[in-house]
Amino acid sequence: MSDLALTGIGHLTTNVGDPIGDATVLIADGIITFAGASTDAPDLRDTLVYDCGGNAVIPGFVDAHTHLVFSGDRSQEFRRRMAGDSYLAIAAEGGGIMSTVKSTRSATEADLFGSTMSRLITMIEHGTTAIEVKSGYGLELDTELRLLEVAGRLGEQCGMQVRTTFLGAHAIPPEFDRDRYVDLVIDTMLPAVAGMADDCDVFVEHGAFTVDEARAILTKASEFGMGLRVHAEQLSNSGGALLAAELGAMSADHLDHATPEDAAALAEAGVIAVLTPGASHMLRTPQAPGPMLWDAGCVVAIATDCNPGTSYLESIGLAISLAVVQMGLSVDQALWAATRGGALALGMEDRGIVEVGGAGDLVVLDAPSPEHIPYRPASNLVAATIIGGRRWEKRA
Ligand code: NIG
Ligand code: FE
Repeated sequence: MSDLALTGIGHLTTNVGDPIGDATVLIADGIITFAGASTDAPDLRDTLVYDCGGNAVIPGFVDAHTHLVFSGDRSQEFRRRMAGDSYLAIAAEGGGIMSTVKSTRSATEADLFGSTMSRLITMIEHGTTAIEVKSGYGLELDTELRLLEVAGRLGEQCGMQVRTTFLGAHAIPPEFDRDRYVDLVIDTMLPAVAGMADDCDVFVEHGAFTVDEARAILTKASEFGMGLRVHAEQLSNSGGALLAAELGAMSADHLDHATPEDAAALAEAGVIAVLTPGASHMLRTPQAPGPMLWDAGCVVAIATDCNPGTSYLESIGLAISLAVVQMGLSVDQALWAATRGGALALGMEDRGIVEVGGAGDLVVLDAPSPEHIPYRPASNLVAATIIGGRRWEKRA
């Protein structure tokens, strides 16, 4: 018996072939057991049926880059940036990442969990069915561990796949000089978080970490069996992408200032390019060269980068719209990048596709075809989010 049948699908995007009209999907024990033309579907007696009413169904969105666990907001900095102050200048004054570190360190675990869960619920309501969550607002061992623990618990409570990333090398806290902090990350933090975090990320940028520091941190992380990610070429071309390629990282992220040489190296090394159009939009900086990266042969993912500084975006639909309208990806490329591309960036081979044996993570739209997502960016067109074969109930 199937747990759930989606019937009356007017347009089914599978990411493994052409879209199917008049389709049915069956899910049992969280796994897709049938996806195809309704005329070929098995008997649906004894099955809970959700009639999609001729609307479109797509694979669930996989948000491959978020800084979801934080406390407080930076709305006043947003005001200042929009009035002309730069992100790096605000950070140099002790604002920016350090301002969120301050509020996050002092938040109770319950507050942190509650506010993060609330953001995650909004994401799910916008069709996200699996995510990556980074630490990086603790910058001291206890708080970093707390952020990773919160991230892990979110997934358990929502029944969704959450991949966690240790981003202790997000900024250098003022109480440390840089060499001592890099040593702390390598010698103390990494051994302690290695059992909790799946992956390790470093922010390679002027004012953050150098390529050599990142290489030392990531090399150690890989000795612990962690996957590697790099915040690369976000605010300037700083060498993060070439480092990601050199180390065989899972992803190089942001890439706003990536060059054709970076793209060729990433494509050659099989490093996934995770692009974050929300951050460029909110920083008023040029978008990453998505079409160039795609044409160079990179696997491209689109993510929200949800964080309180540069991209307080819970809707991956808006990120898709920005990827199309501002970055220049095609509608089909952007939708693929936010589903299958995200899944590949997180090593979730069974997600971002609709096929027998794949995970039962799907989104039923309140629209006849998926291009409505970028086309109507201010509407939440998600009628139902299905995670592991269960329908997520929207809040009233
Ligand atoms: O991905 N670039 C570094 N990290 C975040 C911003 C973090 C913050 O400003 O709080 C980003 O954009
Ligand atoms: Fe980021």
